Amino acid sequence: MEKLRNLINITDLSTQEIEELIQVADDIVARPEHYQDICQHKKLATLFFEPSTRTRLSFEAAMLELGGSVLGFSSANSSSAAKGESVSDTIQTVGNYVDIIAMRHPKEGAPVVGASRTSVPIINAGDGGHFHPTQTLTDLLTIHRKKGRFDHLTIGLCGDLKFGRTVHSLIEAMTRYDSVEFVLISPNELQIPNYLKHLMDEAQVKWSETTDLETALPALDILYMTRVQKERFFNEADYIRLKDSYILDLDKLRHAQEELVIMHPLPRVNEIATEVDDDPRACYFFQALCGKHIRMALILFLLGITTGGTQNV
Ligand code: NCD
Repeated sequence: MEKLRNLINITDLSTQEIEELIQVADDIVARPEHYQDICQHKKLATLFFEPSTRTRLSFEAAMLELGGSVLGFSSANSSSAAKGESVSDTIQTVGNYVDIIAMRHPKEGAPVVGASRTSVPIINAGDGGHFHPTQTLTDLLTIHRKKGRFDHLTIGLCGDLKFGRTVHSLIEAMTRYDSVEFVLISPNELQIPNYLKHLMDEAQVKWSETTDLETALPALDILYMTRVQKERFFNEADYIRLKDSYILDLDKLRHAQEELVIMHPLPRVNEIATEVDDDPRACYFFQALCGKHIRMALILFLLGITTGGTQNV
C-alpha cells in the first residue's frame, strides 16, 4: 500500500499548502453542510501518551464533524505502553485499524519512529519539547483571521521559549514570510534553543531577546504567551523559581496596541490574569476554535479527500 503523507514538522507543508488548508478551514465555516459526511467510514485514532485537552478533543471533534469515527487512548497508562510496549509496535498495530493517526508522545522523534511502521498518515500532535505542527496551523489560522496577513508583523513570544514546542514550530513557520520580526521575551534560563536563532539568521529574520515584557509590549502586533513547561524540568526548584516570571494583566496592557492580538496555545496556568479574558484583544479561546477548523482541513488533506467545492485541498 502506498504510504500517504505525514505531518511531523510544520516544514513538511509548503507555504502554498498551508494557504490551501486555511482556505478550506474558512470554507468549512461558510458551508458546514458540505463537509458533514465527507469522511463517512473513515477512522481517526488519537494516541496520546501525554496529557491533552484541546489538541486531542479538537482532533476528535474535527473527525466527528466530518462524519468519520474516532478511537484511541488519552494516556499512556491506559494503553499497553504501561506494560512496556514500544511505540513502533503500538503504531504498527493501530495502523491496521484506522485510516489516520494523531499521536502525542513525551519523547522527541517518537512520531518519526511511528511513521516508519505504518502506511497510514501520522500526525505529530506534539513530541516532547520538539515540535507541535498542528498547533502552528491553529496559530496561523488565528493570525490570518485576526490580521489578514502573515507578513509585516512584530511578534512577541513570551515565557518558556526553551521547552515550549508550540513556539519552536511557530518560529519555523513564520520565518517564511516577509518582514516578520520576533521579540523573544523569557528569563535567561528559558531562552529559545540556538538552532532556532541560526534558523532566523539564515532566513534573515530580525529578532531580539529581552527579559522585560512591559518594555517590549508597545511595539507588538501579536503577543504569544506560553506557560512554563513544568513537566520538562529536571529540577523542581528551578520550576518554582521561574514559574511566575510573567503575568499579563490589564495594567500591563495599558501600553499595548489597540489592535494587539493576544494568543496562548493553552493550557494557561497563571501567565495571563483571567481579567484579560474579556479584553477584545484576548484571542486564545478563539484560537482553540480555529484548532478544530484547521484540523478538519488537515484530515481531509492527508486522506487525499478533495472537497469538490470551489476550493480543492
Ligand atoms: C501546548 C502543548 O501541548 O505543547 N498545548 C496545546 O497543545 N494546546 C502548550 C502547553 O502544553 O503548554
